[in-house]
Amino acid sequence: NIMILFGPPGAGKGTHGPKIEDLLGIPQLSTGDMLRAAVTAKTEVGLKAAAVMKAGGLVSDDIVIGIIRDRIREPDCKFGFILDGFPRTLVQAQELDKMLAEEGACVTKVVELQVPDEVLEERICGRWIHKTSGRSYHVKYAPPKSMKKDNKGHPIPESMKDDETGEPLMQRPDDTASALVKRLQGYHNETVPILEHYKPNGIVAMVNANQGMDGVWGEVLQALKRGE
Ligand code: AP5
Ligand code: ZN
Repeated sequence: NIMILFGPPGAGKGTHGPKIEDLLGIPQLSTGDMLRAAVTAKTEVGLKAAAVMKAGGLVSDDIVIGIIRDRIREPDCKFGFILDGFPRTLVQAQELDKMLAEEGACVTKVVELQVPDEVLEERICGRWIHKTSGRSYHVKYAPPKSMKKDNKGHPIPESMKDDETGEPLMQRPDDTASALVKRLQGYHNETVPILEHYKPNGIVAMVNANQGMDGVWGEVLQALKRGE
């Protein structure tokens, strides 16, 4: 079971990935989460990636391919994994195929979360995350239980806490309208062409991700069943 969760920034990859992880018992591997952890830890990779990420650009293929190569060799990936945010370029897709072929494996499913660009700004700009777990919240669509608002109706930052750990939530430095424009350009120019790479295998399943989260989840479940 080697799945790719595919979709633009704000499509819901980080929202549905952990649920698929629970359902199938295979880990979700988010290159975005891994890179953010590297930035926080100030590793060599983190220092190289920080500025590119903040501006909404793509980190170099070499760096992310290296991260994924190391990660999928770990024992918990033995029975499969869910890729979130990787591959993002044709070169990454080709390298992934090669890595998997060495183990006699291949990508078995691509779930494409389809959302029009116009709805993504509200999702991105209202997002708060729990950094250590990667859990996503949204001020309007998925507020944390602790959220309190000021008299103008804006959420009070100190009240934004993770439901499970009570730890503070934060906003991502790349979750601005201007960085989003750049991220969407990268998505359409570099990432969307990957779909054509996988379509001939008949493994791409489309999901309408422009609806409430429960509706999206229902379609994701259908997509997982299809072709199995
Ligand atoms: P990454 O972390 O992968 O960011 P991304 O692809 O831009 O995707 P997001 O995390 O923004 O979106 P998501 O689909 O996970 O949305 P979520 O579920 O949280 O990458 C960040 C950066 O790292 C890149 O820009 C790049 O610099 C670098 N990078 C990473 N991988 C790389 C690679 N392979 N190569 C090169 N560089 C790489 O949902 C968003 C919000 O909407 C949340 O608040 C959520 O609660 C809400 N929401 C979700 N679904 C719904 C719904 N149905 N209705 C209403 N609200 C919803
Ligand atoms: Zn994400």
